[in-house]
Amino acid sequence: MEFGAPMLALSALAVIALAMAIPALKRRLELSLAKHRSLTGHVRMARRIAGLIPFYAYDEAHFFSCDDAPAEIAARRRAGFTRLAALYRERFALTVGRTAEVAEGISDLQFTDAYRVPFQFSGFVRQHLKAGAFVRSSGGVTLTDLDGNHLYDLTGSYGVNVLGYDFYKDCMDRGQARVRELGPVLGAYHPVIAANVKRLKEISGLDEVSFHMSGTEAVMQAVRLARYHTGRSHLVRFCGAYHGWWGEVAPGVGNPTPAHETYTLQEMSVATLRVLRHRRDIACVLVNPLQALHPNAGAPADSGLLDSARRAHFDRAAYTDWLKRLRAVCSERNIVLIFDEVFVGFRIAPRGAQEYFGVKADLVTYGKTLGGGLPIGVLCGRHELMKRFRDDRPGDICFARGTFNSHPYVMGAMHEFLQRLEAPEVRALYRDLDEVWNARAQRLNQRLRDVGLPVEVANLSSIWTVCYTQPSRYNWMLQYYLRTEGLALSWVGTGRLIFSLNYTQADFEAVADRFVAAAKAMQQDGWWWSDGKTTNKSIKQRILREIIAHRWSLARGRDKPSF
Ligand SMILES: Cc1ncc(COP(=O)(O)O)c(C=O)c1O
Repeated sequence: MEFGAPMLALSALAVIALAMAIPALKRRLELSLAKHRSLTGHVRMARRIAGLIPFYAYDEAHFFSCDDAPAEIAARRRAGFTRLAALYRERFALTVGRTAEVAEGISDLQFTDAYRVPFQFSGFVRQHLKAGAFVRSSGGVTLTDLDGNHLYDLTGSYGVNVLGYDFYKDCMDRGQARVRELGPVLGAYHPVIAANVKRLKEISGLDEVSFHMSGTEAVMQAVRLARYHTGRSHLVRFCGAYHGWWGEVAPGVGNPTPAHETYTLQEMSVATLRVLRHRRDIACVLVNPLQALHPNAGAPADSGLLDSARRAHFDRAAYTDWLKRLRAVCSERNIVLIFDEVFVGFRIAPRGAQEYFGVKADLVTYGKTLGGGLPIGVLCGRHELMKRFRDDRPGDICFARGTFNSHPYVMGAMHEFLQRLEAPEVRALYRDLDEVWNARAQRLNQRLRDVGLPVEVANLSSIWTVCYTQPSRYNWMLQYYLRTEGLALSWVGTGRLIFSLNYTQADFEAVADRFVAAAKAMQQDGWWWSDGKTTNKSIKQRILREIIAHRWSLARGRDKPSF
């Protein structure tokens, strides 16, 4: 059979097309290999799967024995739960009462309340162990609720409280006094801004600063500028990392629209470095250094405590090495490296993660504590990246505004914060920070081990998370025992404990005593009973079977299965 000229031409075209397609296919494959194998690494699939999970709740009998605990254990659990419920009713009466009055009108409260524990248990818990949302005052390292209960603060006010509440009260008072004459004038600046800019430039080691109203907005602006200056479309975020609630940095579960120009890649991975080296559409890489505590896992919250699989471990040397490699590849490929220090900035070191890990970023976002107790988001960057217009093309701008940016009151409180950061007594709080907090974590772990409790903590400096060493369905109950002992937790429960640096050793010992007492009480009440055979895997399999059974019965229009 002879090939005619048209046939030859077609074959040649096919070969050319294939040759052209191979690099694209290779890049596609590299991208797939750089995704973390967990669902957190596959955000679209995670959202689809999450949408398939039907609601179901355990009835009272299952609530106490969903792990097939014998009747005697279930009875102990029930007695413990009843005791806690009575105590909560009495001790938190006013706080809970006031919360109930407003809950109907505050959507945020309804959301957080619904997601304190795994959904199967949530209804029963909310009925009997109501969490109050009001606090009357703060002072030292404690909060006081409406009932007059003093609670050691482990909430850290979402990370804002680095230096102690009294410090921020002072910043707010003095800052306000400094700017009061100007009041709420916006657009024009109060002169105090000059000192803030100067300090922020020194702290970040970068040329320029822009002020925003929240960390989320500072991150939005960082990404927008990176796209503007590189002319590239995509941002890379790492699996599990939180960067605020803007859709493009928060794809997947929780975001109803897909983020088409976001790559969610595996952190601390050679495959990710390969993607950064080979793709031409990447404008920036966003790093949240808090992830060093649990690389590639989402922010830990007790609503996700289905079993005891939560793991955390901070390896400073390994994470430093990762950041250095990331820095090198970003420099090589002109990718903008953004450190999102909204959480860790000013907490792990006075100059934040850049100082702590010894790695420089191109853009850095700060927030939370920097406002001296008032709302803030700040972006610092190199001049050429911060510029919002082009000298040679006046119509090509990168727009960013905000009515309340640079609000005089915020600038005043920030000024106090930045000034007082240099004071010897504040500098002293940062001395041997890691040694102090690592020793405290180790000591607590030793105490927990000594009395045979299946709990341990992991920490990145003053940011802690609680892990569980034995498979169990009931770890989320610990948050209720901890509150009973006078420890205030945020709505993510034992997922994140945040200490302020003004905790003295004596304060810490008091927290440790209460922590151990809470865990002991929980153990005595039978929640950590084990048949010796259950594994985290078998727990997950069982829950999967429950989900399938409920979906099946929904699909067939049957009554719900009884569990
Ligand atoms: C690393 C990081 N980036 C951004 C944000 C968002 O900041 P904000 O809540 O002020 O919008 C947060 C908030 O927790 C954060 O931890």
